[in-house]
Amino acid sequence: MASQNTGKFFIGSIIVFILVFGLINIILSTMQGVAKGTVEPESMAAEDVAERIKPVAQVNLGEPPVVEAAVVAAAPAEAGSADDAGAKIVKSTCALCHRTGMMSSPKLGNADDWAPRIEQGVDVLYDHAMNGFNMMPARGGNASLSDDDVKAAVDHMIALTK
Ligand code: HEC
Repeated sequence: MASQNTGKFFIGSIIVFILVFGLINIILSTMQGVAKGTVEPESMAAEDVAERIKPVAQVNLGEPPVVEAAVVAAAPAEAGSADDAGAKIVKSTCALCHRTGMMSSPKLGNADDWAPRIEQGVDVLYDHAMNGFNMMPARGGNASLSDDDVKAAVDHMIALTK
């Protein structure tokens, strides 16, 4: 009887010892990893925690992406000179026709195409660019351009011929 109990106790001790030893081993190696920088402790910053515990799926209410709006708003301010702004507008709106001379529009950078038009005076060119002229659509068909945008684009087109 006594020897049987001792045997059970002995085996029980070994099992407990192995479990405790294994646990300590895991804890120690994790601590070592953190100390060496091989294991990143999870950040406890409020937004990181919120990120980890947030619901898996979220309903998208289709709100406009705020970041993009901010970038668009900031763009003109970063544009620097008026010619930079004009160049961007020419590239994005006017080049569609004027790069290739489509519908016999005056070609970008072609002094011969532009000479007779520039002779009319820059105010006529502004007017035709803003209000349209034959096949030339008002504001190049981009109604979101301001008067100043269109003028900057015309200025840039004129500058390209020099
Ligand atoms: C859909 C094609 C198209 C786009 C886009 C376009 N143009 Fe034109 N543009 C023309 C055509 C065609 C003419 C020639 C019209 C004519 O002389 O009868 C012209 C002529 C002009 C002229 C000369 C007008 C004159 O009095 O001789 C200017 C300046 C001009 N465009 C500026 C612009 C600017 C600035 C933009 C962009 C904001 C632009 N265009 C976008 C087709 C286009």
